[in-house]
Amino acid sequence: MKARIHPPTRSNLRRLAAELRRGGLVAIPTETVYGLAAHALDAKACRAIFRAKGRPANDPLIVHLLDLTHAEELAEFNDAARRVARRFWPGPLTIVLPKKPCVPGIVTSGGPTVALRAPAHPLARQLLALAKVPLAAPSANPFSYISPTTAAHVQQGLGKRIRHILDGGSCTVGVESTVLDLTHSTKPRILRPGAITAAQLEKVLKRKVATQNRSVKSKAVLLAPGMLERHYSPRTPLRLTTRPVAARQTALIFLRQPAGKQPANVYWLSQRGALEEIARNLYRVLREADAGGYRAIQLEKLPTTAGGLAAALNDRMKRAASR
Ligand code: TXA
Ligand code: MG
Repeated sequence: MKARIHPPTRSNLRRLAAELRRGGLVAIPTETVYGLAAHALDAKACRAIFRAKGRPANDPLIVHLLDLTHAEELAEFNDAARRVARRFWPGPLTIVLPKKPCVPGIVTSGGPTVALRAPAHPLARQLLALAKVPLAAPSANPFSYISPTTAAHVQQGLGKRIRHILDGGSCTVGVESTVLDLTHSTKPRILRPGAITAAQLEKVLKRKVATQNRSVKSKAVLLAPGMLERHYSPRTPLRLTTRPVAARQTALIFLRQPAGKQPANVYWLSQRGALEEIARNLYRVLREADAGGYRAIQLEKLPTTAGGLAAALNDRMKRAASR
């Protein structure tokens, strides 16, 4: 079996929506990373996601939907959650709330809460509108490898395990959504940093948002399973450094393009150091360096003064470096 990459024509979208409705798996583009989608209310379809990814069953899935109205059918919203959903949806924000009974246990790893997100990518939205069902979707990569930001990345990782990939080009955000726990409306907590920052959330919620930026080593910890330390990792040993320096069989990844002509082992994440551009390119460049046959990768750290997206980028870079 080799997955087919489908161009986003109207008839392909209709066919893939039908495939999802009858319990099939389809890898879909979102603005953050590609997701491996299945009918969220079909437990059997969701089990197939875990199988295809090799994902442990104690790592729950994010459910994607069109808007707040659809989200309220799946979870118990509070006013704080409604406020952030109205402000940041559609977009790269996932909200964790008490689940309603219709959400199968396989989606939440048996837990009482469900993670919800309305993606902004136009193709994800068209597919949701055509399928008319919520879609459970983790990132479309084999468990613990780097998340995919193109259809070709999905093909490389899961091409032998799934049949359908919808091609939506390169993801515009490039790192996974912010996961915000609002189970207790007065105790908002970021479980995973992303493009929507703590400062943005605090402004809307009008209170302090806790950041649990602590990784856990044990797979048994269900609290925030995405916080497993080794995650988003290349296979080549990677070290974070303030200044990459040439070494034998080593790939060097800089934040911005170095001046002058560079040898093949030199990579960069942006032209001028803009964080949005770094986020967009990070996973692609990590994959390229990982595929280069090097013994080691050195990745330049962000300056400590960087704000905004820096929390998410630092988090992913540290995880990529953890062994
Ligand atoms: O941007 C994204 O969020 C992408 C795209 C496809 O939407 N999805 C994604 O899914 O990154 P995944 O499965 O790779 O990461 C989901 C994260 C994990 O850290 C998981 O533990 C957490 O969300 N999560 C899911 N349900 C949860 C819940 N009920 N409570 C706490 N954390 C939850
Ligand atoms: Mg993932």
